[in-house]
Amino acid sequence: MPRIRLADRVAIARAERTANAALRPRREISAREGCRVVVDGRTLTSFCGNDYLGLGQHLDVVSAFQEASAWHGVGSTGSALVTGHHAEHAAFEREMAQWLGYERGLMFSSGYQANLAVMQSLLTEGDVCVQDKLNHACLIDGARLAGCELKRYPHLDVEAALRQLMSRRDGAAMLATDGVFSMDGDRAPLADLALVARAQDALLYVDDAHGIGVLGPEGRGSLAVAGLGAREVPLLLVPLGKAFGGQGAVLLGSEALVGHVAETARPYLFSTAPAPAMAAAMRASLKLIRTESWRRAKLASLVARFRRGAAALGLPLQESFTPIQPVVLGDNARALAASRSLEAQGYLVSAIRPPTVPEGQARLRVTLSVDHGEADVDGLLAALAEAVKAAPAPLPA
Ligand SMILES: Cc1ncc(COP(=O)(O)O)c(C=O)c1O
Repeated sequence: MPRIRLADRVAIARAERTANAALRPRREISAREGCRVVVDGRTLTSFCGNDYLGLGQHLDVVSAFQEASAWHGVGSTGSALVTGHHAEHAAFEREMAQWLGYERGLMFSSGYQANLAVMQSLLTEGDVCVQDKLNHACLIDGARLAGCELKRYPHLDVEAALRQLMSRRDGAAMLATDGVFSMDGDRAPLADLALVARAQDALLYVDDAHGIGVLGPEGRGSLAVAGLGAREVPLLLVPLGKAFGGQGAVLLGSEALVGHVAETARPYLFSTAPAPAMAAAMRASLKLIRTESWRRAKLASLVARFRRGAAALGLPLQESFTPIQPVVLGDNARALAASRSLEAQGYLVSAIRPPTVPEGQARLRVTLSVDHGEADVDGLLAALAEAVKAAPAPLPA
């Protein structure tokens, strides 16, 4: 590779992103009330957040956060292994473990950090990590950080996962998958993957960021729907930025596995523990998730309404029955144009483009929430029909 100044490389990359309609400016939200957000002084109805159950602004959750921060401050003062581990974290970890049927929980500051931590502490050179091609970026990055061999099988292809595990020679193996895929909303074939993992002596690791709270009895997520538990899925990750309405993640597993991660994962050891107030708020969210099943029922009915309406309009729908309802439009410019048209009509639905999704599959990632009403969904559908019509290129076949 020839010598180049970093500043020049950055300028070239930015010019390429501009030419490919791939610039990614941030939008500044100055206020939020449920699904209404204020952006650049305009109130828009957001259909792209992940607060599926509407708990992020629930009075119980906010009060728990306020009260705990009044008592304990807004920071945790250090790494969990020094002074950062608080009684609120410990109580939340215990409650999560008990709820989901695992021996132990471990709270992280983010799902991204947790996935780096799990992989880096459990896998090493000579091991293999087999993953669905559409897994979230942090599972992929975790395997890279671990230095193990990363093999990615075509989306949902259980036989390909089996072949990749069978072809390994030495070392340990992990089979890792999203429970619900973040950009497509479809579910991993967990029961079949569990059989493959058992047959191949691989550890099955499920990241249920988008299934927990939303699916299954008491919102116990993708594992409950598939009839699986700690025996079949020895490690489960529950990120807290979606249905829990907060921030962070909890890793669940055996005392031995989770204890090993807690004592050896560099992303855990060398990072400030999450605020105790966040653990307190998440305890309040957990209570609501377990008891208020009407939230899941309302969400399911909004999803069904959206899908019926989209089908009637001839919009391209994915095989998703979760609150993630992507409208795949193909090229970047088309997705961007549709997103801008929606915004002009009062709806915030950001265009998701590569590298978040594969090339040629840019999309509007529509997400539904308990905060929406039926009229919001109907309004979005009418706006979508207009936006897709106005966007330039033809739909993919
Ligand atoms: C499947 C999955 N795992 C992990 C993460 C990362 O979690 P966090 O946002 O808490 O870092 C996400 C975030 O979008 C996700 O979709």
